[in-house]
Amino acid sequence: MSKIAIVYGSSTGATEAVAEKIQALFDNATLFNVADISVEDIQDFDFLVLGASTTGVGDLQDDWDIFLPKFEKMNFAGKKVAMFSLGDSASFSTSFAGAMYYLYKALKGKVEIIGSVPTDGYTFDESDAVIDGKFIGLAIDEDNEYDQTDSRLAAWVENLKKQIG
Ligand SMILES: Cc1cc2nc3c(=O)[nH]c(=O)nc-3n(C[C@H](O)[C@H](O)[C@H](O)COP(=O)(O)O)c2cc1C
Repeated sequence: MSKIAIVYGSSTGATEAVAEKIQALFDNATLFNVADISVEDIQDFDFLVLGASTTGVGDLQDDWDIFLPKFEKMNFAGKKVAMFSLGDSASFSTSFAGAMYYLYKALKGKVEIIGSVPTDGYTFDESDAVIDGKFIGLAIDEDNEYDQTDSRLAAWVENLKKQIG
């Protein structure tokens, strides 16, 4: 069975709460706040679920921004990664959930990335997190679409479980 780590960066707690929900949907996942860890803490896990909120204009959450240069040096051999990011699609319709693009950019080509999501059902204008017509991970909007969060998480995690073995 895959060893699963969920690593989140959260400025005001919304991403942390979503990370806890994702943990509850897996049977055996360990939760880490990226602000508190070093690369060694997560090296032994097979599957990494990375979550970040979006700040600035489509920017990566601050704690992740600090950790990212160290993370890029990690040995990703044999691992899989999935990403989620939080955003506000009403106030930031042209940079919605862009944070995960920075994670994607840092890891692309180094590790197998799974968990892309169709944009159907979302309302926004632009997002760096959309590549080839799909979100590169799961976009969550706790500011406007909190009523869809649980069903989005359940569908995403079910799909991930099938792919990690
Ligand atoms: C200063 C600031 C900038 C933000 N910029 C964006 C943005 O560019 N795109 C977006 O989708 N959401 C943006 N948001 C919304 C947050 O990502 C969203 O509220 C999120 O749920 C916060 O999660 P957290 O509490 O885990 O940090 C911004 C929020 C703040 C406070």
